[in-house]
Amino acid sequence: MKTMGVGVLAMALLAAAPAAAQGADGFVARCGMCHQATGEGLAGQFPRLAGRAAAIAQSEPGRRYMVRVVLGGMAGPISVDGKPLMGVMPGMASLSDDQIAAALNQALALGKPAKPAKPFKPADVAKVRAEGRPAMADNAALRAELVGKGLIP
Ligand code: HEC
Repeated sequence: MKTMGVGVLAMALLAAAPAAAQGADGFVARCGMCHQATGEGLAGQFPRLAGRAAAIAQSEPGRRYMVRVVLGGMAGPISVDGKPLMGVMPGMASLSDDQIAAALNQALALGKPAKPAKPFKPADVAKVRAEGRPAMADNAALRAELVGKGLIP
């Protein structure tokens, strides 16, 4: 009976695998090596996303910016939590709309967001992708603009 229990559990895990691959595994595998699995980031190099991702995603320009950063990447000096940071994020446009939406949604849930954000749909990603691949420098300029407007903490 014990072995059958394990078998049933294994089947349940297998059934859940596709969903997990788009959720926790998606962020951990694709973003976690830099932003860390918990989204806490790494001082001086990788920005904290835990708690911040949901804050950036409160506005439409912030949401568009997040998709653009994943598609086109970003580099250059920025400031996060009042500390300077200098890193490079490569564009990840080879990921599908589903994969990008899933990784971003996982990021939204990290930490304890003060205010939960509306999840990203694959169609949201497709819409931004249709604008053409954003350049890293353009994303950095857009970030500065959104920081100025108070849309990025
Ligand atoms: C190779 C390391 C690396 C990987 C992989 C990576 N990032 Fe980044 N990410 C960075 C760096 C570095 C920055 C800041 C770039 C800069 O300094 O201009 C950044 C910035 C961001 C920002 C903007 C943060 C802000 O404060 O404006 C978001 C959102 C983001 N990443 C999400 C993701 C997601 C989602 C993934 C996975 C699909 C991912 N990143 C994968 C290194 C990475």
